[in-house]
Amino acid sequence: MANFLGLRFHTQFPLTCFVAGSASSSAIAANLVKNWNRRVKGPRRMLLGFGAASFLSQFVGVSGGKSFIASARITGGPSVDEILKNVEWPEQFPFKEEDFLRYDESPDTMFYESPRFVTHIDDPAIAALTKYYSKVFPPSNSPGVSILDMCSSWVSHFPPGYSQERVVGLGLNEEELKRNPVLTEYIVQDLNVNPRLPFEDNSFDIITNVVSVDYITKPLDVFKEMSRILKPGGLAIMSFSNRCFWTKAISIWTSTGDADHVMIVGSYFHYAGGFEPPQAVDISPNPGRSDPMYIVYSRKVSTA
Ligand SMILES: C[S@@+](CC[C@H](N)C(=O)[O-])C[C@H]1O[C@@H](n2cnc3c(N)ncnc32)[C@H](O)[C@@H]1O
Repeated sequence: MANFLGLRFHTQFPLTCFVAGSASSSAIAANLVKNWNRRVKGPRRMLLGFGAASFLSQFVGVSGGKSFIASARITGGPSVDEILKNVEWPEQFPFKEEDFLRYDESPDTMFYESPRFVTHIDDPAIAALTKYYSKVFPPSNSPGVSILDMCSSWVSHFPPGYSQERVVGLGLNEEELKRNPVLTEYIVQDLNVNPRLPFEDNSFDIITNVVSVDYITKPLDVFKEMSRILKPGGLAIMSFSNRCFWTKAISIWTSTGDADHVMIVGSYFHYAGGFEPPQAVDISPNPGRSDPMYIVYSRKVSTA
């Protein structure tokens, strides 16, 4: 499938990926194509390092030898809840630097300069996430509880009226963060420039990240930081759908499907260290009729 620029590298894109405005003007796009072509040679699939199929088929009990690569939605094979069970992770992090390149490598601060007071997934998917949070979050107003919403905006999708002593939002657009009613404080920081989280060790009970883990270009650095700032037993919840600003998502994400995304995020927890084995859950509210919603989560090990 060629895109509007005639490129053929993203034949596996989830069809629902949407194109964000600022990077799609033809002048910018022409430059991007030039840069991208310089960086990426050969079929995109090979950027997984091993070749995508062999990467995934290494995981026992996951795919039964069948690659998920061509599937934008999970329609066959093991359920999402099974994907991270019995994984035999390779000794080394299997991704390469080029897997974390983006089509648009201009500063993220530029892309997020203007506020977007929109939602990025449909209402049923948001409702499913909020319901999930209401099951796993500590009760509202629990003394001493702190939550960090990474890649936050004007909404965090927490249960209505939910509050805690400290709820920090970290994102790139100040106007959006200012408007988020659940936050008690916010920080504007580009995690792709500075992945260090500006918080003390063992200070958060929960870290959330909604539909944005695919924009992180130094995931191991960020996940190590997450492990550092979580309290022992603290919970990190990464949620995602099949939509993205594809020019800003890492190439390993835009060239693979939903099941691979579960595996990719699981690998971040695994290789960052300090976390219990990651688990996945499919909370898609209405499979095939609304946006899917997947969660990959893990707790910081209690002894770390
Ligand atoms: C698709 S929006 C999702 C916003 C929000 N989590 C939600 O559910 O509506 C992506 C968010 O990721 C944040 N983001 C993207 N790149 C980032 C980066 N390099 N560092 C920090 N935040 C980033 C942006 O500020 C933006 O709010």
